[in-house]
Amino acid sequence: MSYPYQIKSYEAYKEAYKKSVEDPENFWADIANNFQWRKKWDKVLDWNFTEPKVEWFKGAKLNITENCIDRYLPEMADQPAIIWEPNNPEDRVRVVTYARLHKRVCQFAQVLKNLGVKKGDRVCIYMGMVPELAYAVLGCARIGAIHSVIFGGFSAQSIADRLEDAKAEYIVTCDGAYRGAKDIPLKSIIDDALIGNKVVKKVIVYTRTRTPVSMLKGRDVWWEDEMEHAEGQVEKNGTVSFPAEEMDAEDPLFILYTSGSTGKPKGVVHTCGGYMVWTNYTFVNTFQYQQGQKHFCTADIGWITGHSYILYGPLSAGATSVMFEGVPTWPDAGRFWEIVDKYKIDILYTAPTAIRSLMSYGLDPIKDKDLSSLKVLGTVGEPINEEAWHWYDENIGKKKCPIVDTWWQTETGGILITNLAGVTPAIPSWATLPLPGVQPVLVDDRGVEITEKNEEGLYKGNLCMKAPWPGILRTTYGDHERCRTNYFATYENLYFTGDGAMKDDEGFYRITGRVDDVLNVSGHRIGTAEVENAINMHASVVESAVVGYPHDIKGQGIYAYVIVSSFHGSEDETRKDILQTVSRIIGPIAKPDRIQFVNGLPKTRSGKIMRRILRKIAEGEIEKLGDTSTLLDPGVVDDIKKGKV
Ligand code: WT7
Repeated sequence: MSYPYQIKSYEAYKEAYKKSVEDPENFWADIANNFQWRKKWDKVLDWNFTEPKVEWFKGAKLNITENCIDRYLPEMADQPAIIWEPNNPEDRVRVVTYARLHKRVCQFAQVLKNLGVKKGDRVCIYMGMVPELAYAVLGCARIGAIHSVIFGGFSAQSIADRLEDAKAEYIVTCDGAYRGAKDIPLKSIIDDALIGNKVVKKVIVYTRTRTPVSMLKGRDVWWEDEMEHAEGQVEKNGTVSFPAEEMDAEDPLFILYTSGSTGKPKGVVHTCGGYMVWTNYTFVNTFQYQQGQKHFCTADIGWITGHSYILYGPLSAGATSVMFEGVPTWPDAGRFWEIVDKYKIDILYTAPTAIRSLMSYGLDPIKDKDLSSLKVLGTVGEPINEEAWHWYDENIGKKKCPIVDTWWQTETGGILITNLAGVTPAIPSWATLPLPGVQPVLVDDRGVEITEKNEEGLYKGNLCMKAPWPGILRTTYGDHERCRTNYFATYENLYFTGDGAMKDDEGFYRITGRVDDVLNVSGHRIGTAEVENAINMHASVVESAVVGYPHDIKGQGIYAYVIVSSFHGSEDETRKDILQTVSRIIGPIAKPDRIQFVNGLPKTRSGKIMRRILRKIAEGEIEKLGDTSTLLDPGVVDDIKKGKV
């Protein structure tokens, strides 16, 4: 397996980039020709950003699992597709070859069929990081069902909201999930999410922790029983088959919910053809993957990073993907390095927050680990600070591994701005150059392109994209208008990312962070409005305002200003009750790091909360509040300053 579209030099990058802009249809047709299509496209690209409408490889037919599995069977059946490292280092490692993956995915597709799942049905997946999660995702893709994976850190209420929005009729879950020393009762959380739900027909439960679970007759079935039954159906005379459903390139592949500046998460929809080409192309080029290498992406499949760079990108390239069930700091902070050493990992892709957290344990956990197999390092999820970048470079890459700083979003399907490992220049804390097909533009608040440099000699503005790349989101599930207003209406004819960025004279980009009311906590996106809604659900809360503040490990922490009608017990007890409420409504990942009780919030005469001021106070910049004269009651600011936690 070689990748004719792998860019091998800076010159070749420039050439590919130029062609992708001047002649996108032929550029992408050449790349798409390297995949297995049941039928080729009638037209490579049709688009406008006003509706918006984006169609790639229109009329083409394919099944993504044939590209991720079947096409590698003739020559690579025994090559590991997934190597699974369990949470508990004493547990058995599992090596899933392409042949085994094929069998299990076919088997699970058969299970779905037996239970009545059809093309286009929505299947919600709420599992821990076990290989069965990969089988579930790919099994859905094989039968043409739309998977919607929900991260295990979301609460029953969050699941219920997502089930309702997706009108999901099927759920795949586990009895429980191991995460470090913790044991999370996933099925029991699903049971809570299903109280009053009349839409879900079947819940498939995989046994991982053997924690007690309630199994409802007629609705809940065991994974193991169903798989055993299906085995005989897909395996005949030594051959395994479950015919993959023929999908249109623009049929939905999955929904993944993500937070925005409104209170309700959006179901980002990706489709089969474009997403496949994009995740494969970006995987092969960014990491400069070579056949036989082991790629270790530490993300959870509950997030887009896991979808694109544990599953679809690597598998569609015939790669070996390492999947890890645990957490970086358990049983100790040497876990990642131990995995690198044990499997001789070539490519390590992780988040700045993980690097900063591991940095804080010093060099002891690395001392006795052999990291010499590493060739490429990557980061994703938030801007990486220079200190963490250098630590990663010196202590993990031993100054021999290029670091790719990959900027992208759930909505973009795959990486958009990054250096190519060892091929294009790396600059600490700069995402650097757009991949071929990606056309960024920085605009001011009116949508006018920035043409003047600032004092630092850089162009600075809101980051937008001028044209679609194959992996761009197509819609937000069930509400296309929401997709338009969220991403395509802020600036005319542009996709707006929600991020701010700077650009130098050579066209290198540095991402500065969100410019909307969205926080990035440990590389996870959380909307301030969403957290405020959850806090406001608490019986004693009158009003709240949530902002981000710099946090040494998490990148951003959540700071909540809360007005309560009365305290139940002490302030601290009330604080804990509020945290519990947020945990219940959204999940533990959205719990504020700090709660300050206040008597009033700084509002303009029209009643708008002046977040700018609250942000400054949370950041500790109490002296630089700027103009407060337009406030209805400037006095509240002094009170808030005095009570800062
Ligand atoms: C937001 C997207 C992309 C998968 C993980 C997060 C921030 C992401 C970088 C980076 C600076 C980054 C942006 C973006 N972000 N990568 N390399 N440098 N910022 O996906 O939850 O959709 O969040 O993460 O602010 O908008 P997500």
